[in-house]
Amino acid sequence: MTTIRPARSEDAEALPTIEQSAGLAFRAIADLAWLADGDNVAVGRHRALIAGGACWIAADEKDQPVGFLSAGIEGGAMHIWELDVHLDRQGQGIGRALLERAVADARRRGLAGVTLTTFRTVPWNAPFYRKFGFRILEGAEIDERLASVLGDEAEHGMPSDQRCAMRLDLSRAGTH
Ligand SMILES: CC(C)(COP(=O)(O)OP(=O)(O)OC[C@H]1O[C@@H](n2cnc3c(N)ncnc32)[C@H](O)[C@@H]1OP(=O)(O)O)[C@@H](O)C(=O)NCCC(=O)NCCS
Repeated sequence: MTTIRPARSEDAEALPTIEQSAGLAFRAIADLAWLADGDNVAVGRHRALIAGGACWIAADEKDQPVGFLSAGIEGGAMHIWELDVHLDRQGQGIGRALLERAVADARRRGLAGVTLTTFRTVPWNAPFYRKFGFRILEGAEIDERLASVLGDEAEHGMPSDQRCAMRLDLSRAGTH
């Protein structure tokens, strides 16, 4: 049984281990297996994101984090920086629950949308978000902010032809 709750500063130290474990999923994809050995987000950066008030934890029965979603409010939208579920806990609906919580919070704040960058064809990346109503942005739809995120990723060795920016538009759907 897992519970979704807002992240607290003291959760930050547990998050790189979860990211590391989550990333092992990429070992199944030959081209991207190297990601499993990549750097994780530093604890200090997690603390800063948590302080921003848009990070959630999936906690186990002992209130220990087994997954997390880190986001921030950027240019009128919620931007998801990280979504990771411990490898042993993947495929049990935890990622979906974290994403639902973040999207509900973005709606509550009256934000126009939720954005992120991810891999186009990895099954648990763009296809996963598409099920929630996110769509891949192409060409001029990619604003300066998202282009800069994609540019930073390319500088860090991400294969830019396989990355994409996605957006869930909240300006019409679900607002009455
Ligand atoms: C992406 C991630 C957070 C999803 O969390 P999860 O708890 O495993 O996901 P859920 O159990 O809620 O599954 C939701 C959907 O994800 C997709 N999915 C998750 N794992 C998958 C896998 N191994 N293969 C294919 N699809 C998968 C499915 O579409 C699934 O929907 P379904 O149950 O209707 O088939 C998790 O797989 C993870 O940590 N992956 C590694 C890190 C990563 O890629 N993060 C996202 C960066 S943008």
